[in-house]
Amino acid sequence: MDCRVGFYRIFVLFVVLFTVGAAQAGDPQRGRQIYIDHCAGCHGRMGSPTMAAVPAFSRGEGVMKSDQELLTFIKRGQGVMPGYDGLLTELEIRDTLAFIRTLF
Ligand code: HEC
Repeated sequence: MDCRVGFYRIFVLFVVLFTVGAAQAGDPQRGRQIYIDHCAGCHGRMGSPTMAAVPAFSRGEGVMKSDQELLTFIKRGQGVMPGYDGLLTELEIRDTLAFIRTLF
């Protein structure tokens, strides 16, 4: 086998793993601005809700679930809360989730 092909494959594998890993972790710095723009109106800048029946992230309400569960919830929406599928990318939602988890 040509040695360079082997190295190339390993290199591509690392790039893919790194990208996927970074995407799944979410970046709270990027998420902060998205949260302020899209979510703080109801959930409050510091995670203290601005109206009734909204979970308080500052008290850990509504966040004791996996990223995957919350991702599905945020995409779909529920009741008063709009769905963000098509408005925010999956990566943006993951960033926002990473930020929300810093509020508790
Ligand atoms: C119009 C008001 C409103 C906006 C805007 C809003 N939410 Fe919500 N959110 C709610 C309400 C109300 C609930 C409770 C829904 C329920 O329990 O039926 C909720 C619940 C949640 C939960 C808890 C889900 C669970 O399973 O308990 C999360 C997480 C969440 N919102 C994230 C977000 C994010 C992220 C954004 C911005 C991208 C956002 N919300 C924008 C009103 C809002």
